[in-house]
Amino acid sequence: MTYKIIKNGCIVTPTHQYNADILIKGEKIKAIGDNLERNRPGVEMVDATGLYVLPGAVDEHTHMSMPSPGTHSMPWETETVAAAVGGTTTIVDFAIQEKGQTLLEAIHTWQTKAHNNTAIDYSLHVAITDLNDAVIDEIPLAVKKGVSTFKLFMAYKDDKMVDDATLYRVLKKSKEVGGLVMVHAENGDVISVLQNEYMESGKTEPIYHAVTRPIEIEAEATRRAIALAKITEAPIFVVHVSGEESAEEIRKARLNGQAVYGETCPHYLFLDESYLQLPDFEGAKYVCSPPLRDKYHQETLWKAINAGTLQAIGTDHCSFNYHEQKYRGINDFTKIPNGGNGIENWVQMLYSFGVKKGKISFEQLVELISANPAKFMGLYPQKGTITIGSDADIVLFDPDIKQTIKAETQLQASDYNFYEGFDIEGSPRHVFLRGELIVKDRKYIGNLQQGRFIKAEPYGAAYDSITTDDRGVI
Ligand code: URP
Ligand code: ZN
Ligand code: ZN
Repeated sequence: MTYKIIKNGCIVTPTHQYNADILIKGEKIKAIGDNLERNRPGVEMVDATGLYVLPGAVDEHTHMSMPSPGTHSMPWETETVAAAVGGTTTIVDFAIQEKGQTLLEAIHTWQTKAHNNTAIDYSLHVAITDLNDAVIDEIPLAVKKGVSTFKLFMAYKDDKMVDDATLYRVLKKSKEVGGLVMVHAENGDVISVLQNEYMESGKTEPIYHAVTRPIEIEAEATRRAIALAKITEAPIFVVHVSGEESAEEIRKARLNGQAVYGETCPHYLFLDESYLQLPDFEGAKYVCSPPLRDKYHQETLWKAINAGTLQAIGTDHCSFNYHEQKYRGINDFTKIPNGGNGIENWVQMLYSFGVKKGKISFEQLVELISANPAKFMGLYPQKGTITIGSDADIVLFDPDIKQTIKAETQLQASDYNFYEGFDIEGSPRHVFLRGELIVKDRKYIGNLQQGRFIKAEPYGAAYDSITTDDRGVI
């Protein structure tokens, strides 16, 4: 068994910052305190002077190698290496049920894609796209297999979209076994009509992606999903909340005592609708759903984070190339694959333009990208926290690193970067995955056999009513 001590760093938790050393035994955090090297000759010392010590980020929202009509998003092997260098040690990816497939087959397909192909640990949600009685009966089986979060797309008609009956039935069944339903809340039926109207009148450019998905489309679906969750008394988690009106639906429901949770993504905080109007079809790079909104919404999202309406941030990393893939929609915005990238830079972006700009505290950042995602997704306290007994997934964060984000120097496989040209300040320097150093001085030194499937426990949403600091004090 190997021992390591991370010395002289400042540990950041969701509630406070403190100076202490960390003893790692094998894969786990064994002790936190001072003078831990006493009576431990030969222990490997890691000097963290001047560095912050954070739990590895848990990105609850990724799409690795996801089918999108006619193509696939970027694969595990490149994107998880980029994630590691960016300070993420666990992702929760969406296994997508193909039509006619069982849930267990979908989970197996995703585990096969990830096997020996992931630089970091992963857990899974399963997206139900084709419901029948047998699939309903599989929900408890999926939970037993360690997949306890179920995603339903209310958009993407004729592809992944489900109807309200499916939403109702899945909410009801998953509640029985401690599952958590995650919804992509947009009214797919109306989007489809709007898309046809715009295309027929010759409006084919990327900006019409946003025009045909106004915030009301998202707010209405959010309200509907919350109403169905209320009838079934099930908790519900609304992913990628992009603006004020949707956040407001969540706020109202929570005020009424309903178990409704929400996530936003860095691109809604830092990018806006104007990017879709870039010339020469460059706007296609920024086509994602829900779409980027008017800049006004950015402030309202920060407010919703600070009010506790939105409790988590995930990247929704679903990365495509601009040239071969986004170009599919050169004459038709509805054919542009939906999604963008961000897993390499999200921690840097949120620190630079969230913490350093005073939008959130450093402690909040740790809560939003590590502790809360791990809780909701049933991975806490194994993941998302620096606590005795937790996996030693640790980021040594250097607040003095400066960098301009550029696609040409990134590890993400795409030919562009969502955050091209942003000047960040503060970056992960070293990263440990279960006690192993996988990123040293910002260089990936691990291997793709290191990432492991982590079983999620059910009832993750029950953490909402419990405030725990990272030393286990309630
Ligand atoms: O545009 C997006 N968000 N693509 C990924 C799939 C999804 O809807 O989350
Ligand atoms: Zn979605
Ligand atoms: Zn997504």
